[in-house]
Amino acid sequence: MSVEAPPAARGDSAVESGAPVVELKDVSCRFGKNFAVEHASLSIYPGEVLGLVGDNGAGKSTIVKMISGYISPTSGTIEVMGAPVSFSSPRQAREAGIETVYQDLAIVSEMSLWRNFFLGQELFRRVLGIPFLRVSEMVRVCDAHLAEVGLTSVRSARQTAATLSGGERQSLAISRANYFESRLLLLDEPLAALSVRETRRVLESIEAVKAKNIGVLYIDHNMDHVLPAADRIAIMHRGSISRVVHKGDLSVDELSDAVAASGTEDHVG
Ligand SMILES: Nc1ncnc2c1ncn2[C@@H]1O[C@H](COP(=O)(O)OP(=O)(O)O)[C@@H](O)[C@H]1O
Ligand SMILES: [Mg+2]
Repeated sequence: MSVEAPPAARGDSAVESGAPVVELKDVSCRFGKNFAVEHASLSIYPGEVLGLVGDNGAGKSTIVKMISGYISPTSGTIEVMGAPVSFSSPRQAREAGIETVYQDLAIVSEMSLWRNFFLGQELFRRVLGIPFLRVSEMVRVCDAHLAEVGLTSVRSARQTAATLSGGERQSLAISRANYFESRLLLLDEPLAALSVRETRRVLESIEAVKAKNIGVLYIDHNMDHVLPAADRIAIMHRGSISRVVHKGDLSVDELSDAVAASGTEDHVG
């Protein structure tokens, strides 16, 4: 069962624009006999960061994989901008404006930064009907965005991604959502194994994305990171969304307690 608090009124860009970017309606995902996600309902609004927290194995990554087209729900409906979707690949989800940043898979080390930035969405020019990559244009755009997200140690978009630190990779991946004006950015534990400074930078790039009215689903097991970044927080337990709270409703300690308590009692209100 899921009980969802509506987004806060007053000055909330999500409420002003009304419709959610993505809505999960009674979605389940079963692997063999086990349900990774069971009857989950969830909405993410434009310009809001929805935190998703819960124990290991609660089903958080499965939610992300269903929205991003890696796996299909066993039952239930996913709607993007009010229309039901059933993506058969991550590429389809991306074309619908859904950008995903995974802990490890965000960036291909062997490729140049600009290649990574435009992966699957390259800019082309046609000459006599033949498509040519607009390389210098892509390098220029990528250089500008690297500067914008504060990647000052990067000399050129032509260097390979192997030269980037973990935090720099995440910032590059997040800045893609910004450039392509995605509707929704899915972040599955983007801060794992990052330094304090890198963490701060990545959190700043999340803010920049939010300011563009992009909806963000942000998974992190560190409540100290989630609470400042999120507008609302959904708590998951054993495949179900047990509670959705507003940022101001709980302190970091209370949120940690709520996650722990979701394992011992049934929150249905
Ligand atoms: N491809 C899969 N095949 C079988 N079981 C899976 C698969 N992916 C996830 N699971 C199971 O589904 C549950 C939820 O996993 P996951 O969504 O990764 O949780 P979380 O991200 O919250 O830690 C776990 O019990 C996990 O073992
Ligand atoms: Mg996970």
